Amino acid sequence: MNNPLFADKTFLSMPHIYLDNAATTPLDPEVLKEVYGVMEKNFGNPSSIHAHGREARTIIEKARKTVANLLNVSPSEIFFTSGGTEADNMAIRSGIIDHKIKHAITTRTEHHAVLHTLESMERNGIISLSFVDIDSRGNIDMDHLEKLLAENERSFVSLMEANNELGTLTDINKVGELCRQYDAIFHSDTVQTMGHFIHDLQKTGVHFVTCAAHKFHGPKGVGFLYVNHSIKINPLIYGGSQERNMRGGTENVYGIVGLAKALEIAYRDMEQDHKSISELKAYMIGKLVENIPGVEFNGETDDDKSLCTVLNVSFPEMEMADMLLFNLDIAGISCSGGSACSSGTNIGSHVLEAISASPERPAVRFSFSKYNTAEEIDYTVAKLREITASFS
Ligand SMILES: Cc1ncc(COP(=O)(O)O)c(C=O)c1O
Repeated sequence: MNNPLFADKTFLSMPHIYLDNAATTPLDPEVLKEVYGVMEKNFGNPSSIHAHGREARTIIEKARKTVANLLNVSPSEIFFTSGGTEADNMAIRSGIIDHKIKHAITTRTEHHAVLHTLESMERNGIISLSFVDIDSRGNIDMDHLEKLLAENERSFVSLMEANNELGTLTDINKVGELCRQYDAIFHSDTVQTMGHFIHDLQKTGVHFVTCAAHKFHGPKGVGFLYVNHSIKINPLIYGGSQERNMRGGTENVYGIVGLAKALEIAYRDMEQDHKSISELKAYMIGKLVENIPGVEFNGETDDDKSLCTVLNVSFPEMEMADMLLFNLDIAGISCSGGSACSSGTNIGSHVLEAISASPERPAVRFSFSKYNTAEEIDYTVAKLREITASFS
């Protein structure tokens, strides 16, 4: 499927293939139309009580209702933020401090929005931090999680639903059930799964989930935090009375409109998008195995155990391995990567290091969206074959 917004690539010197959709996604033209309509007509401050303000307020509350209906929650449980990082920080900092929690549980493969927040709280003596064991594909050890829950007083648990580097999924219904059993507070970073799976949050024993609109063809700089009605927290950002006193600062009206529209489209087209992206991922796996001897895949790759949008590949050891991404870029392919950190350096991927991937083998994360095609995969694999052969 072509995205007409980005069909004109004349700003680039050559055709460019975008396979970095876990980093961010191109805006959906339908989202742009919706946002543009509001930009043209509505500039009021939602906190103003006059007509212009009331109009902007109505637009935000309509967007909140759309999001809440899709997730089967109450609009009063949705708080708009500047994105995934702020939402994760709000859940973790407020959840822990306001409930006087002294122990948190997470994994070494979480996004830095979670990991660095928890580590800073540990450094400041607010919590002690435990890491759940994971296997070589990034799956969490549920027995170890239960042991950690049983051994400690009331814990704060932060476990992402899908890993952004590996794609490996965690069953948050199961984690929610365990957390309920041990009276733990459960936060899940759902930044990579929101808009990619149906979330019925009334059925999931989760207290907080997070969202960033730019991961499903919405605008950057906007997201939300879902806070289950059973739990009360104070704001992370103090200021005016916006977001029912929970997040000071004039609302990003255009971003919020774009987020709601993008989520609506994602839910509407989920089945067909999931099918076509899964097929593309399976196609790329087959092509890589066929064309490049010694490729390995990091994380789970089966459709029921991993995100269809993410494929993490380790290539055989080669000379100038750190030039692989650069060479792909030169060949007109945008993707991201990094091998496991080798000892003594602090560059590289903390996720690949946590699953003990070989630091000698260059790793690349290819991540897909509804706009990618089989022709793009063919071109990418052909270029990979050329590049890896010339460096081996
Ligand atoms: C799993 C995960 N959590 C959090 C974030 C941060 O989201 P944002 O870029 O909206 O701050 C990202 C972004 O890459 C992510 O992949």
